[in-house]
Parts: sequence; C-alpha cells; structure tokens
Amino acid sequence: MTDGSQERPGDFDALLTYVRDARGFDFTGYKRPSLARRIEKRLEARKVPDYDEYRTLLEKDPDEFVDLFNTILINVTAFFRDEFAWDYLRDVVVPRLLDARDDEQLRIWSTGCATGEEAFSLAIVFAEALGGEDFKRRVKIYATDVDADALSFGRHATFSPKQIKPVPEELRKKYFVRENHSYAFRGELRRTVIFGRHDLIQDPPISRIDLLVSRNTLMYFTPEVQSRVLANFHFALRDDGYLFLGKSEALTAKTDLFRPVDLKRRVFAKVPKRADRLLATRDERATLLTPSVESVVRDAGLDVVSVAFIAVDRDGALSLANLQARMQFGLSQRDLGRPIQDLEISFRPVELRSRIEQAYTERHPVSLRDVAWRATEETRYLDVQVSPLNSGTGELVGAGITFTDVTRYRRLQVALQEARRDAETAGEELQATVEELETTNEELQATNEELETTNEELQATNEELETMNEELESTNEELETMNDEIHVRSSELNTTNAFLEAILASLPAAIVVDRALRVQAWNAGARELWGLTTDEAVGQHFMNLDIGLPVDRLHAPLRSVLADGGNRDIVRVDATNRRGRAVTTRVELAPLHANGSTDGVILMMETEDAQ
Ligand SMILES: C[S@@+](CC[C@H](N)C(=O)[O-])C[C@H]1O[C@@H](n2cnc3c(N)ncnc32)[C@H](O)[C@@H]1O
Repeated sequence: MTDGSQERPGDFDALLTYVRDARGFDFTGYKRPSLARRIEKRLEARKVPDYDEYRTLLEKDPDEFVDLFNTILINVTAFFRDEFAWDYLRDVVVPRLLDARDDEQLRIWSTGCATGEEAFSLAIVFAEALGGEDFKRRVKIYATDVDADALSFGRHATFSPKQIKPVPEELRKKYFVRENHSYAFRGELRRTVIFGRHDLIQDPPISRIDLLVSRNTLMYFTPEVQSRVLANFHFALRDDGYLFLGKSEALTAKTDLFRPVDLKRRVFAKVPKRADRLLATRDERATLLTPSVESVVRDAGLDVVSVAFIAVDRDGALSLANLQARMQFGLSQRDLGRPIQDLEISFRPVELRSRIEQAYTERHPVSLRDVAWRATEETRYLDVQVSPLNSGTGELVGAGITFTDVTRYRRLQVALQEARRDAETAGEELQATVEELETTNEELQATNEELETTNEELQATNEELETMNEELESTNEELETMNDEIHVRSSELNTTNAFLEAILASLPAAIVVDRALRVQAWNAGARELWGLTTDEAVGQHFMNLDIGLPVDRLHAPLRSVLADGGNRDIVRVDATNRRGRAVTTRVELAPLHANGSTDGVILMMETEDAQ
C-alpha cells in the first residue's frame, strides 16, 4: 500500500484538474497528503495501478465520481461535538450576541455542516436562549456543505439513536419527536435551518453573519486556501460577529483579521476593517469604493434579498444567482457561465427556457403563480416571474428570474378559503335553522289558534255542562221533593194496606178477583178454609184453583156481578174444606168499585153445616 507521502505514478494534478473541470469539485486546494490517502483508497478498491488509469476509469464510469467524493469528503460529525467548546458558546458567546442585537434578526452560518448535527446543535442553543417563538421569528441558520448527499440527509433532520446520543435527555425530549426507531427534529423549528450547497473554495460567502461556525473543515485545505477562505469569513461576518472553529484548527494565517476571544475553545471575534464598512458619506464612498468593492457590495446586497433571483444572459448562460437562489436550488459559483439547459433549474421547479423566450418576444415579464416545488418532503409554492433585462440603451441583454416563496400566503389563502367555506356552511345552516324556526313558529301559531278554538269550544261545553248541572240539580231537587212525597205516600199506602189487611183479616174468608178473575187478595180465613196460602193463591186464575170449592159453580155469578156492577149475589155451594169435611158454603159476591167502575169482585165465604 502506498501512503500519502509516496504518491502513485501518474499525474496527480491532472487527475484533480480533470475532476474539477468534469464535475466542478476543486480539490486542488486540499492538503495533499490526506487527499492522496483518500484517493489511494479508491485506487485500491478499483484495483487501478496509477492516477492516469484512474482518470480513464472516471471517464468511462461516471458512477465512480460518487464513490470518490464520498471517500474524499469526510462527513464525520456529531451533536455538540467537543462539549466544552459548546458550553462556552452557550454560556458566553450567545448571551453576548443577544445583548448586542436587541430584537434584531440573527444570521448564523454553519459551513461544512456535513449531515446537519452541528446546525441543529446551534438551533437548540439559540432556541434555549431565546425561547421557541423568538427563535423562530429572529434566527436563520444557513447550513452549507459541498456534499449534496450529506445535505439531503440533513434536510430530513432525522437521526438514529446512536447519532442522537450526545444530546442531553431533557433537550432530546424538548426538540425531537420519536419516529419509530429514529428522532426527528421538531418541524416548526426545523424550518429555521436552511440547507444549501456551498463550496467554501469557489462560492462567494454569505454576508451579514453574526456567528460563523466552521469546524473541522478548514483543516483539509492548504494554508493558502485557508487564508482565502478566512478572508471570505471576515467579509461574511458583521463587525461584531464571532467565528467558531474546530478543536484543532488554529488561525495560522491572516491573524490580523480575527482576535481570539477564547483560544482554547477556538472562538474568535472579527477585527473590523475600514474598507469593509459601508461608509457614511457620499464623498467617502467616492474616494474609497473601488469597482471591485462596488461589485462585492452589489453581490452582498443581492445576497441579503430573501427572494431567490437568477439572471441569464442573451446566450442562455447563467450569469448571476443570489444566495437565496444558490441555497434553494443547489447552485454554486461554478455554475455561473454554464448554459441554463444544463442546470436542473431550467426545468425544476418550472420549465424556464420557453418562458424566457416568451419574455424576450413579448418584451414583457411572464408571471407564473403558485408553482409547486417539492425540494424536501414538504411541498412549497413559488411565484415565478421571468423579466426581460434591458441595458441602459434599451438593448435586450438577458432575463432576470425571481422565485418568491408564497407557501405561507398560499396556506393562509387555503385557510381563508376553508374559513369562508365554513362560514358559508354555517350561514346556510343558520338560514335553514331560521327557516325551520319560522315554519315551527307558524305551526305553533296554527296550533295555538286551534287550541284557542278548542278552548272556546271547551268553554262553551263547560258552560253547557254547567247549565246541565244546574238543571240536574233542580231536577234532583224536584226528585227529592217527589221522593219525599213518595215516602209520604208510601207510608200512607202502607198504613192503608195495613188497614185493608186488617179489614181483610178480620173478615171470615175473603177473596178478591179482578175483572179477569185473577186472584188479587186471599185472606187468613180463606187460607184456613181452603188450605192455600196467600202466596200460592194470589195471581192464579180463580177458575183454575184446585180447592174443595167447586169454582165452576161460581163462574156465572161472578160474570153477572161484573156485568151489572152494583148488584150483589149470594150463592150456596157444597164444598169440601181443607180438613176434608163436606161443608155448605155461603158465598156472597159483591162488586169491587174503584174509580167509579167495577174493577173486580169480593167473595166472602162462610160455611154452614152440611145437611
Ligand atoms: C469532518 S466534516 C465536519 C462537520 C462538522 N462541521 C463538524 O465539525 O462536526 C467536514 C465537512 O466539510 C465538508 N467540505 C469539504 N470540502 C468543502 C468545501 N470546499 N466547501 C464546503 N464544505 C466542504 C465535507 O463535505 C464535510 O462534510
């Protein structure tokens, strides 16, 4: 095996140049020994004897680039890596920064962030210091790396139990949500961390940074490249901004740009330079701003604009991409000058070339609204405007394209539409309820009227009943009077009856028959004489009586008394009394007068001794 100091045969530099030209990765500024050691691994894996042959292999098998980059770019990282340094950051640097910033925005840049643990550690530190709401409102963390695969891992913000281990238990509970066997950084805070591809060697720095964290990345670069990158860091930082380096990274070069705040923890403060400041007066600017400073200021100005902006020239080459565009669409400095059709942005999030042509033809901006763009698992919505760009003389020089993120407004719009729909439904329901109430009201009114009628009817019936009651009462009174009279009559009748019975009893044997000859009265004497009791005799037809008296002998006298009314008759007949003795019975028949007519006959009988 060959180590870094004993490189393989072949042109190592030519290999690096080929990689840079073919894929835009410039490793020429990386420290040679460690770079050679990493490339050596690939040569061994692919069993290639030298660099020239490896280069040929890359030409033939482009997939090898992926393995090569994965081998060179070491993504080792961890949450709160080097705890003692993070403690210092949390306890000293962050409070100082917050004191200095009042309620202003805070821009933090984690360069060479690998899979994002460093950026999320920063998010936790600031969220703890500010509280969730202020954190979301004030803080933006740019997490950049040259390695797109590492960035896409970071964007998912989901970590294994092993990766999450360095996060203290209470913070883990507070900032992560358990999802099956992994931990996801809480969604609403996650949006504060913006991942984007950025090459420290080739791309211009992000500007107006308050805290720049570049840990364990600079050390891979040659001292010359390090000084260039540090100059960029100096430019990137605000005058009172801080730089946080890795444990073994010392500021060997350009030390006049930064002063140590705590050397052991590798925290440095920017030493402001006069030329970096935007000068107060027009005169000062006129004397001090060189054209390059102007362009730096222009680029920096474009970078702080929160809308993504790109420009293409008349030949269709990308000539400008501000920070937001670079972060959002993974563009880098090396993409500048490339034909737009070679870049993903020409068709995603929306097909651009036809729109650029349309803008040129119409000499008017072409606007597209609510273009859906799915960069991560979350779909975002962009308003895209393609505007023709004219020079001062009116000549068409290219097109400027803005991508305005309208996700928030769209969500608000959707929420508003939903609220409107809900309100409409509620209104309709209310209307229906009102109508129902009105119907019910009318029904109630009708029922009420019916009830009133029924009530009146009842009232009438009641009055009728009252009248009837009174009538009944008077009838009752009459009946009572009649009853009393009947009682009186009854007792009179009883007295009369008793009187008559007494008369009848005192007669020897007496029988009374009516006009039909039915027995009406049968006294004790008759019972004694003929042996029939009163109950047995009363009601019987006289002519049917089976007694010792030969009743047929009396038929004619009875009829005759009934016929003439006032005349009596006396008849003597032979008879047998109840004891069986033959007796001659003297029967006197007298008419019974009631109401002036003959109603019956009274028969009085006496026995005479038989001859
Ligand atoms: C060892 S990691 C450091 C991760 C993290 N900063 C930390 O300290 O835990 C180094 C990272 O630097 C990135 N890197 C290498 N060259 C770079 C470049 N030119 N620009 C930006 N990032 C680069 C690598 O992809 C890798 O993810």
